[in-house]
Amino acid sequence: MLSAVPRPVTVRVPAKINLHLAVGGVRPDGFHDLVTVFHAVSLFDEISVEQAQEPALEVHGDGVAEVPLDATNLAWRAVELLAEKAGRAPDVRVTLRKGIPVAGGMAGGSADAAGTLVALSSLWRLELGRDELAELAAELGSDVTFGLHGGTALGTGRGEKIIPVLARHRLHWVIALARGGLSTPAVFSELDRLRGDGPIAERPVEPVLEALSSGDPRRLALNLGNDLQVAAVSMAPDLRRTLRAGVNSGALAGLVSGSGPTCAFLCADADSAVEVATELAGMGVCRTVRVAHGPAGGARIVDTSETG
Ligand code: C5P
Repeated sequence: MLSAVPRPVTVRVPAKINLHLAVGGVRPDGFHDLVTVFHAVSLFDEISVEQAQEPALEVHGDGVAEVPLDATNLAWRAVELLAEKAGRAPDVRVTLRKGIPVAGGMAGGSADAAGTLVALSSLWRLELGRDELAELAAELGSDVTFGLHGGTALGTGRGEKIIPVLARHRLHWVIALARGGLSTPAVFSELDRLRGDGPIAERPVEPVLEALSSGDPRRLALNLGNDLQVAAVSMAPDLRRTLRAGVNSGALAGLVSGSGPTCAFLCADADSAVEVATELAGMGVCRTVRVAHGPAGGARIVDTSETG
């Protein structure tokens, strides 16, 4: 009799940028309270899982040297969490194909964890509901829940509480990838250092939500903002030049994505994004550029025959 080995499962998960990121004070658990607007854009990681004799993790694509292959990898932590929940051995091979910049502030590691949860619960036929997946995601990291969700969403708590935001219009972005990476905890610590004991300036979220529902990219451009940007620029001062260059190339606005160092530039339309990307690529202010659009859908199983 043939043994019923389940077919490998591949899931595609988008990168995120934060259209708004207001960082509050440090909580007793060491995290910061956030009010953020997540926006998924069309740069994707693909996560494949298949049954294997021995647990294994493989990573392909740009920046793989920076991705840990041990138990600290967030995708592997997702395997262990789900194996424990299902009461099974983690006898799977996980293959990550990176399209999201590594250590770039675009939640690539979180995307891999979200994708692994979805792929593995399908491979093992665990029949987990959205809420159960979201709970597991929140255990793994602050941005993992949004990786499941995608679209545009308001994030609160440490980022793991997600409410969808009305944003039907397509937004056009140029993403400037930096030469190195920045460590997220280090950027949060730098922000704390820069703030010292002073009061934390308010950054209201309402204008961003209103601009999103209007669908006018010019209005949104005026309201984009990220409290971590000042800390990322303090640690990587060249970002100032990158941000200026994007706007001088015709972008409506630019901001550091999450904890950086990737920068995201909002453009008026698809043609303008191609023009900005072309000009920016020739200026030597970043490692490479990508054109992307949002909102992109969250973690989805894709036909394995499509992914080769
Ligand atoms: O949750 P995640 O593992 O993505 O967070 C990485 C690090 O970023 C945390 O260990 C913490 O230092 C910092 N962080 C924070 N407050 C948040 C989210 C992340 O201080 N809300």
